[in-house]
Amino acid sequence: MKIGVPGEIKNHENRVGITPSGVFELVKRNHTVYVQKDAGFKSGFFDDDYSDVGAIILDTIEEVYEAATMIVKVKEPIEKEYELIKPHHLLFTFFHFASSRTLTEAMLRSGSVCIAYETVEEEDGSLPLLIPMSEVAGRMSIQEGAKCLEKPVKGRGILLGGVPGVPPGKVLVLGGGVVGVQAAKMAAGLGAIVTIMDIDMKQLRYISDIMPKNVTTELSSEYNIRKHIKHTDLIIGGVLIKGAKAPKLITKDMLKDMRPGTVMVDVAVDQGGCFETTKATTHENPTYIIDDVVHYCVANMPGAVPYTSTLALTNVTLPYIVKIADAGWKKACEQDKRLAKGLNIVNGAIVYKEIAETFNLDFKTLNDL
Ligand SMILES: NC(=O)c1ccc[n+]([C@@H]2O[C@H](COP(=O)([O-])OP(=O)(O)OC[C@H]3O[C@@H](n4cnc5c(N)ncnc54)[C@H](O)[C@@H]3O)[C@@H](O)[C@H]2O)c1
Repeated sequence: MKIGVPGEIKNHENRVGITPSGVFELVKRNHTVYVQKDAGFKSGFFDDDYSDVGAIILDTIEEVYEAATMIVKVKEPIEKEYELIKPHHLLFTFFHFASSRTLTEAMLRSGSVCIAYETVEEEDGSLPLLIPMSEVAGRMSIQEGAKCLEKPVKGRGILLGGVPGVPPGKVLVLGGGVVGVQAAKMAAGLGAIVTIMDIDMKQLRYISDIMPKNVTTELSSEYNIRKHIKHTDLIIGGVLIKGAKAPKLITKDMLKDMRPGTVMVDVAVDQGGCFETTKATTHENPTYIIDDVVHYCVANMPGAVPYTSTLALTNVTLPYIVKIADAGWKKACEQDKRLAKGLNIVNGAIVYKEIAETFNLDFKTLNDL
């Protein structure tokens, strides 16, 4: 198959859809890979890295779309790209259709096939192509939170790990899923005293079994949260209720009970946030202060570490890319039900029920087509 890797043109997107190692695997299977010039530059992969393993470097995004039938990207196409997408194209990327009618209608008009990373689904309902980004954000939340605790950015002036003779800082992690576990692990590694809260007792049992001694589990409740925030230095928000807005676990009135310079990192900001005072920020201006509490609410945390994020993402997307390239999307989806869940739009029809319902548009099954 002819596979195209355009550079990402969405603002502040530094990742790239395939690494040189991915190109190596595809070329080995006799596929042709076209990579746009400098597409991997911001992730730390250079044109020579790609051409050395057999990629053909093309100067412009137009040339990549023209040469390829399968397009592998990271973010959804933006308006400038709509006209490049034709009926013979298959796009494999993050789409998040439900958040944009414009994008949905443009892809319907294009006549292409759209397989969305975010809806590829395991039998147990987990989303394998989303997990790596939660892992990155969870680990990063402690790195960023620790930095925000420094005095120059109005934090409490605390070194999270303490030093001999001075006790370490205290971290409260709300949500014990992928983000929460990775955050707790990092905080524990720095030597902090960590409490992790969830409403899922099964998950808390698991966490309690695997975490080191400086991590304690507690059931998530308003009472327990209010008790902890009075003496916590860093609070991480990592809760998720699938398909719903995050619950506001820290309300504005609670800020008054915190010590000045307490830091709150709301990783769940992309689902509306789990703090009442959360508003989305960017890497350029990541923090703001309300009632002397430092808020960090960056909605695309992995964007700041594109090298790690690109590798983490492509580790999980490559096996699917290979399957689609080898067998074609139809056969690959027949053979792999997880991948079939990723089908959102096929040749002008919505084949993912929730997207059709969101916009009150027609829904078709693959059999209808
Ligand atoms: N900001 C970013 O850059 C970024 C990056 C990746 C993920 N995220 C977001 O982080 C959030 C967490 O993702 P995840 O992959 O860890 O989800 P997950 O499903 O693995 O974990 C969520 C956990 O929250 C728990 N939970 C639900 N209600 C709770 C409550 N009231 N109190 C405590 N815990 C509760 C659930 O039981 C679950 O264990 C999501 O909103 C995700 O979109 C943000």
